[in-house]
Amino acid sequence: MTSKWWRSAVIYQIYPRSFQDSDGDGIGDLEGIARRLDYLAALGVHGIWLSPIFPSPMADFGYDVADYRGIDPRFGSLDDFDALLAAAHARGLRLLLDFVPNHSSSAHPWFVESRSSPNNPKRDWYIWRDAAPDGGPPNNWISDFGGSAWEWDAASEQYYYHAFLPEQPDLNWRNPELRAAMLNVMRFWFDRGVDGLRIDVLWHLIKAADFPDNPPNPNWRPGTGEMDRVIQLHSTDQPEVHEIAAEMRAIADAYGDRVLIGEIYLPVERLMTYYGLERPEVHLPFNFQLIDAPWDARTLAALIADYEAALSPGAWPNWVLGNHDRPRVASRLGEAQARIAAMLLLTLRGTPTIYYGDELGLADTAIPPDRVQDPRELREPGLGLGRDPVRTPMPWDGKTNAGFSAAEPWLPLNADWPERNVARQTRDPGSMLTLYRDLLALRRARAALALGDFASVIGTDDVLAYERRLGEERLLIALNLGGGEQRLALPGWARSLRPLLSARPLDGDLRDGDALVLAPDQGLILGAA
Ligand code: NOJ
Repeated sequence: MTSKWWRSAVIYQIYPRSFQDSDGDGIGDLEGIARRLDYLAALGVHGIWLSPIFPSPMADFGYDVADYRGIDPRFGSLDDFDALLAAAHARGLRLLLDFVPNHSSSAHPWFVESRSSPNNPKRDWYIWRDAAPDGGPPNNWISDFGGSAWEWDAASEQYYYHAFLPEQPDLNWRNPELRAAMLNVMRFWFDRGVDGLRIDVLWHLIKAADFPDNPPNPNWRPGTGEMDRVIQLHSTDQPEVHEIAAEMRAIADAYGDRVLIGEIYLPVERLMTYYGLERPEVHLPFNFQLIDAPWDARTLAALIADYEAALSPGAWPNWVLGNHDRPRVASRLGEAQARIAAMLLLTLRGTPTIYYGDELGLADTAIPPDRVQDPRELREPGLGLGRDPVRTPMPWDGKTNAGFSAAEPWLPLNADWPERNVARQTRDPGSMLTLYRDLLALRRARAALALGDFASVIGTDDVLAYERRLGEERLLIALNLGGGEQRLALPGWARSLRPLLSARPLDGDLRDGDALVLAPDQGLILGAA
C-alpha cells in the first residue's frame, strides 16, 4: 500500500557542498546538514533532497559518481549517512537522494574495466562506437556542456559517448546486466531507508539504437550554449525510456511509500508521458515551467491552466522556482516579486520544491574569474551558463564565514551575507524567511492549500488570482505581479473572506466596494478567519 505523503509535502533541495561545513575544510558535509535539521524542521518543510553525496572525482561536483553505494569522504561516511537519516526521521523529515543513472564517473571501476579492452565483459555497459569513415566521431551529437559528445579512446580505438563531460561516460541501459546492476542501486538505498530518489536526466537514459545524426536547430544563434546547435531528437526522450521508468517505479512501489521525482526538461505534453503511459512511471516529473516563464499574469495563468489540463486523472502536479542549475529566482524577478513567487510556489496545487537559500532571497553571487569551479562555465565561458553563482554557501549568521565554515568556503559567500543570513532574518518579521515560514505554516494549517482543488479566477493586467478549495474550505489567492496598485473584482463567495497572510504589511483599505485592492507587489491569501 502506498501512503501519498509526498502529495502534501514541501521538499527542500540541499546542495550539500554549500549547506554547512562541520570539519573545517570549507566544504559542506553530512554532519553539517545534521546540525541544521532543526532549522529545516522549524522552517516547516517535510522532506529534503540532497544533491549527490557519493564518492566522486567531482569533475561535475558529484554528478560523476565513482561508487553508487558509498559516501564521498568529503561529505562523511555511510555511518554519518545513517545517522543523518535517523536524525531526519526523528524530526519527521523525509530524505531523498539524487540517483544519477545516465552516466557514471570515468573513474568508476565499471568504466575502467569497460575501457580496458573491446573484449572486456563490461565493454557493453557503456556506449562504444567505431569512428566515422573520416576518423571523426560516429555522429553529430553535442555534449550538453559543449563540444562533441564523443571522446576518442586511443588505446582501444573507439569513441565513447558522454552527454555531459568526458569524465561522465553514458551508461548503456540497453544492456540487461547494467540495467540490473543500476536497479539494484535503487534497492540498496531504499533498503537503507531513504524515502525517495530524484532521478538525474531521466529523459536521457536511452538513445536511438542506430545513432542517427540529430537535426540542426535552425533557431540556434552563436553566443548561446553549443548544445542547442542540434535538436536532441535521437539522443533523448526515446520510447524505450518508459519501460525503464516503469521498472524503477515498480521497485519504489515494492517498498510502499517511496517517491520518485524525475528530472526532465521537456515540453509539457512530452513531460506528461513520464507519469506513465501503460504502467506508472515517476510520481513527479519535475515541472520547471516557472523558471523560464515570462513574469506576467496572463502568461502564468495560461501556463498553470494548460499544465493542470494536461494532467491525467490521478497525476499529481509539482512546481519549482529554482535549482542548482538555474539562475536564482531573486535575480530573475527582484526581491519584491521573489516574495510573490514564493507565495505562488506555496499556494499552487502540487508538491513544491524549495531551493536552499531562496527562503532568504539569495541572489546569484558574482564569482571572480579565478574562483570559477563549474565545468560548464569553464568549457563555455562568458555565456552566462555557469552554475557557481547559485551554489554559494548558505549564510547562517554574522560570524566568521557566515557560520558556514571555519575555513574559507569553496565558493564565495553572497556579498550581502552580513545582513542576509538566517539569524538576522529569523528576527525580522518582514524578512523573506518569515514569509516562507508563515506560508509553510499556513499550508500545514489549511488542507485546502496542501491538497485542495485549483480553479483560476483571473489572469489579466498584473493580477493573478485563483481559488483553492477542499470541501467547505475555500481560499482566494490574489497576487499583484507589478509595481502599481491593482483592483480585483471579488467573486461573491470570496467577499466575506479575511486576509490570512500577506506578502507585504497591510496598510490602507483592502476593499473598494466589491473589489479587492492590491498594493504594489502585494500578494494576499484570503480565507475564513
Ligand atoms: C543534471 C544535473 O542537475 C546537473 O547539475 C548535472 O550537471 C547534469 N545533470 C549531469 O549529471
